[in-house]
Amino acid sequence: MIRSVVRGTGAALPRRIMKNADFEGMVETSDEWIAQRTGIRQRHIAADDETTASLGEAAARAALDNAGLTPADIDLIVLATSTPNNTFPATAVDIQNRLGMHHGFAFDMQAVCSGFVYAVTTADLYIRGGLAKRVLVIGSETFSRILDWSDRSTCVLFGDGAGAMVLEAGEGAGGIEDHGVLAASLRSDGAHKDKLFVDGGASTTGTVGHLRMEGREVFKHAVGMITDVIEATFSAAGITAEDLDWFVPHQANKRIIDASARKLGIAEQKVVVTVDLHGNTSAASVPLALSVAVADGRIKKGDLVLIEAMGGGFTWGAVLLRW
Ligand code: ACO
Repeated sequence: MIRSVVRGTGAALPRRIMKNADFEGMVETSDEWIAQRTGIRQRHIAADDETTASLGEAAARAALDNAGLTPADIDLIVLATSTPNNTFPATAVDIQNRLGMHHGFAFDMQAVCSGFVYAVTTADLYIRGGLAKRVLVIGSETFSRILDWSDRSTCVLFGDGAGAMVLEAGEGAGGIEDHGVLAASLRSDGAHKDKLFVDGGASTTGTVGHLRMEGREVFKHAVGMITDVIEATFSAAGITAEDLDWFVPHQANKRIIDASARKLGIAEQKVVVTVDLHGNTSAASVPLALSVAVADGRIKKGDLVLIEAMGGGFTWGAVLLRW
């Protein structure tokens, strides 16, 4: 059977680093409060010339280099983002053009922080359905542009960045030993729409709007939703937490990551954490974390890796892959 196999990963971060202490004086907060409640110590913030498209392009080029490929080898780009350069056209098409690609096709996916998990699942279906052979899956965000910088309960949590992965069609026997995407589980429930949203939009206010969140409500639902969808993925693949080599969760809050891993019985040393360095970069957080763990030699060929995310909507999901 056809499997969607990881061929390369890459990342890109804005030049400017903003430390927790840099918020002191802007809003009533402290390095200690932010670090203790979230695990975040710093985040990258995009300059005017750094956009979702430019960061996405840089991450895509890094992933292509890592894969030993060029844009000519790609036939589909799926970009997960909630902060596109324009309402339309899709920022994926902008990235396609920046890469000098005038063949194939490209589109955006919007599932907020779950965007990359949804995008990997979508790319896998295009590959297994025979519509694409090599797909660039990108998560790129500039959440700094939709933050209310006077709201201390949200502005300290998010950062900008991009991560990318090249998936390519490969052969598999159909079992758990195959390389590539092995199982996935996706969920959404719009009943939670008002707990995490942006208060603007093309069809309503005609403005971009700002991020609004009932943090405590999101926190309350997060661990249960995350663990449910991961258990569904484990059971679809016929594995347990012990079989995993790496758990690469959405990087929103260290307390959510720790509580989820504890509930699932995933050992602490198997959890990849980058929230301290990047903050919550929404759809970019999982591919950024993957890219860090590949670059530092933790994730190696043959490893069993679980990615997971939960975000606005709510949307949530998990994908199991063998590297
Ligand atoms: N600095 C200092 N105090 C603050 C800050 C801040 N930056 N922000 C809020 N506070 C205050 C609050 O006003 C509140 O004060 P009060 O008790 O006088 O009213 C107090 O701190 C406690 O606030 P809580 O919201 O109860 O704090 P909590 O421990 O829940 O932590 C947090 C807040 C970090 C937001 C937490 O709820 C959380 O992480 N929630 C999940 C958020 C998340 O993961 N969101 C992303 C989802 S992914 C996506 O799709 C974007």
